Amino acid sequence: MNDLSVRPLFIRPATACDVVLLSALQAACYQPAAASEGCPDSSNTGASPSASPSASPGTGVAVHVGEAWRPRSWAEVLAMPGSFALLATVREPGVRGVPGQDAEGHGADDEPVGFFLAQVLFAEGELLSFGVVPAHRRRGYGRRLLAQGLEVAQRQGAERIQLEVAENNRRAQSFYKTAGFSLIGRRPGYYRLAAGDAVDALILQRLLM
Ligand SMILES: CC(C)(COP(=O)(O)OP(=O)(O)OC[C@H]1O[C@@H](n2cnc3c(N)ncnc32)[C@H](O)[C@@H]1OP(=O)(O)O)[C@@H](O)C(=O)NCCC(=O)NCCS
Repeated sequence: MNDLSVRPLFIRPATACDVVLLSALQAACYQPAAASEGCPDSSNTGASPSASPSASPGTGVAVHVGEAWRPRSWAEVLAMPGSFALLATVREPGVRGVPGQDAEGHGADDEPVGFFLAQVLFAEGELLSFGVVPAHRRRGYGRRLLAQGLEVAQRQGAERIQLEVAENNRRAQSFYKTAGFSLIGRRPGYYRLAAGDAVDALILQRLLM
């Protein structure tokens, strides 16, 4: 990690006003270069999680690539009971105020770098979608965004949080392992690929108590 590249990170709740931005961020995070990053359950959102064929490095096997949901699907997900989203932005160093800043200090010129979407129903939390844009990875932003998301989930009553990740998404698995998630199950062939292949989903869980 290059410490000089780390900029102040701002995290705020996302609302229905942010759906276009959330959709664009999700697309940037799941672009084909990030192949195989099958992410938590886009299948129950009404969104379209269809796969694009892409080669898994070193295997030649087509892998699942998460597809961004349309803004309308984001609006539907955000309207589901217990769902919430966070939006992370960074600011150039030394900039104290930005014209157009809102009451919480978020400037219109801040650069969006990541998002977090989860749902909490009673004691059960589910991480539905999460990402940091490629240009800003390995700077600790994902760790901080996840920590804040888990804090919100816990405040909403979650005692544990689960997610699904494609078996060949090693980067995300490594990320979640360092964040204290454990493997608790597997859904064989969960991510269907255009070429007819399939990738298992691993179910990871972290206790929040
Ligand atoms: C997974 C993801 C959110 C991580 O975001 P990030 O901002 O790069 O993560 P951080 O910089 O906070 O990394 C925290 C720790 O996770 C681990 N980690 C993160 N990326 C890693 C990688 N590519 N390889 C190995 N370990 C990694 C490291 O232990 C890292 O700590 P370190 O940098 O001090 O070694 C990001 O890679 C991403 O958006 N991926 C595409 C979308 C995706 O897979 N979402 C999750 C689907 S379930």
